[in-house]
Amino acid sequence: MHNYRKINSDVFYVGASDRRLALFENIYPIDRGVSYNSYLVMDEKTVLLDTVDHSVSREFLDNVEAVLSGRKLDYLIVNHMEPDHCSVIAELVIRYPELAIVGNAKTIQMIKQFYSFDVDSRAHVVKDGDSLSTGKHNFVFAFAPMVHWPEVMVSFDTTDGYLYSADAFGTFGALSGNLYADEVEFDREWLDDARRYYINIVGKYGVQVMNTLKKASSLPIKMILPLHGPIWREDLGYFIGKYTTWASYVPEDKGLLLVYSSIYGNTASAMDLLASMCAEKGIRNIHMYDASKTDCSVLVSECFRYSTIVFASPTYNAEIFPKMETLLLDLKAHAFQNRDVAVIENGTWALSSGRKMTELLSAMKNIRILEPSVSIKSSVKDGEREQLAVLADALAASVNKAE
Ligand code: FEO
Repeated sequence: MHNYRKINSDVFYVGASDRRLALFENIYPIDRGVSYNSYLVMDEKTVLLDTVDHSVSREFLDNVEAVLSGRKLDYLIVNHMEPDHCSVIAELVIRYPELAIVGNAKTIQMIKQFYSFDVDSRAHVVKDGDSLSTGKHNFVFAFAPMVHWPEVMVSFDTTDGYLYSADAFGTFGALSGNLYADEVEFDREWLDDARRYYINIVGKYGVQVMNTLKKASSLPIKMILPLHGPIWREDLGYFIGKYTTWASYVPEDKGLLLVYSSIYGNTASAMDLLASMCAEKGIRNIHMYDASKTDCSVLVSECFRYSTIVFASPTYNAEIFPKMETLLLDLKAHAFQNRDVAVIENGTWALSSGRKMTELLSAMKNIRILEPSVSIKSSVKDGEREQLAVLADALAASVNKAE
């Protein structure tokens, strides 16, 4: 059953949403689902921009067939060759034998790696800055390597002013009828997922994202059409601004993030006490998470969000508690940088988690470790209470100086 949407007189949304998938990339929980966006332009030549994940291939193929209404499909522009967008290419080649595939040299190579059909005979290879005229429409291709894979490019339709932005400006979350960001409460209902999507999928590649934003800043963009989540046709500066913040590794919000691991509750109690002290010193916007309860992708996203962070962990097998160690390693993998942090360790004997957390954090770029690093032996006593009070002063100074 087709369910395509008209964007303008000759541009159509032919993607679909999946609310069944539990883990995106088999790692990130997506309680709100995800959409796989694809766009079909009905010009003198017909042009499809990317395909979808196999999970929604039936809806997608019905949409393409319905919009084409008996016409053949001339071009498939492949902006991104990750399987959540390229899973239907072989099926399209069978259904539309004259289909030409537009991509750069890396894209074409990847298609050959994923598929066994004859790619070369239908490949239309483009270079950075090349264009393709399909009648009324003219697509200019701008390479955006590592946003999110090395072959990624974005396509700008100079006729409509539409930027087909691949993963960039995407978000987790299934579409529920409303196709445009200005039709939903984006800031309230979508921004957390958009941040979590960006940080976890492309957060490591801030430099490359900034390069792409710079390239895009010279274009007269009227609409941003990503491969996931709603389309942007109003207030583009709002979302471009968020991307600029995230890609430049500066805090998005002034506030204090407290993340702990706790086996029997004593480290959690210490963090609750610290939180109270911080609140009494006037720190606003304090957020606390148990690393055993909250998914790591949320914690990584929150670490990128806030200006000052405290990590607290018991010593476990003479190491950092595994859930906290996973978080710190994941932060390192995502090039986490440029923050004030503090460390609290706990243990009944042979404490070592503080030193090991400090070592991991010190290896990240421009991480300032606040003093004192607090060491708790089993539970907070008067001496540790005093140390936490001194740390609360340091945290207040850190949060207050944040922009
Ligand atoms: Fe939505 Fe990098 O794939």
